[in-house]
Amino acid sequence: MSFQNILFETKNKIAYLTLNRPDKLNALNWRTMQELQQALAAVKDDSNVGGVILTGAGEKAFAAGADIGELAQQTPVSAKEFSLQSQEILRFVEHFPKPIIAAVNGFCLGGGSELALACHMRVASEKAKFGQPEVNLGIMCGNGGSQRLPRLIGKGRAIELLITGNMIDAAEAYRLGWVNHVTPPDQLIAKCEEILQTVFKKGPIAVKLTLEAVMHGLDMTLEEGVQLESNLFGMCFSTEDMKEGTKAFLEKRAANFQGK
Ligand code: COA
Repeated sequence: MSFQNILFETKNKIAYLTLNRPDKLNALNWRTMQELQQALAAVKDDSNVGGVILTGAGEKAFAAGADIGELAQQTPVSAKEFSLQSQEILRFVEHFPKPIIAAVNGFCLGGGSELALACHMRVASEKAKFGQPEVNLGIMCGNGGSQRLPRLIGKGRAIELLITGNMIDAAEAYRLGWVNHVTPPDQLIAKCEEILQTVFKKGPIAVKLTLEAVMHGLDMTLEEGVQLESNLFGMCFSTEDMKEGTKAFLEKRAANFQGK
């Protein structure tokens, strides 16, 4: 599979997706969004891939937002269509059955931040900068930022960032809960790999169902969410992994999960 705007490789069960327009600070034009979806679709059912690390090429940016050149051409009708189609791609990211970590290596703005927010976790380099600067352009978020940011960091904090357009550094993003960890730049990918390698030792079906419980459950009432959890919990008991995991504990040895 060859792409124009992303780099894509798999190694040690990890798919590495790199947004690759460094001269434009990895701004997310439509082609990049489509390629991102295609690359993820290619690894979704690949049993050799257990998780994804998404990052940006170059020293400066994860992604500095939607491509403003493309935005400037939109009409009301095409802008709505663009937003709906982008939202669909981000829902695909959010409901991906394997963990996706955004490794935020620099500017993470606008649509770049919205993409990172749709990932399951975010790890930031000390050099990363976060913001939703859409209001500077006379527009608002169109890729879910006004919905996912308040769900992640709380309403008041999100509203301040969304309507001031202020940029914050990685330490502040960590304080707000926007990111899970902050690392020196040269340890960013290693930290993401460490998280995924820990996950890979667990029961793969349990991991997949947990992602489903969290990501679908967040769209539900608590009553519906706990019902979903009970159903998925019950499903775990149909797996070989459940038998192996409980048996291994009782035999005081490490479990050897097969994902079955
Ligand atoms: N869309 C399209 N091109 C973008 C872009 C975007 N969102 N962000 C940066 N670029 C391009 C610049 O136009 C420039 O291209 P050029 O060299 O052909 O002129 C290149 O990337 C480098 O950006 P530059 O602005 O020169 O870098 P900087 O270090 O001075 O500033 C930022 C960095 C992130 C502060 C600045 O690029 C910026 O504000 N970008 C827009 C952020 C934004 O509003 N995002 C939300 C979009 S909805």
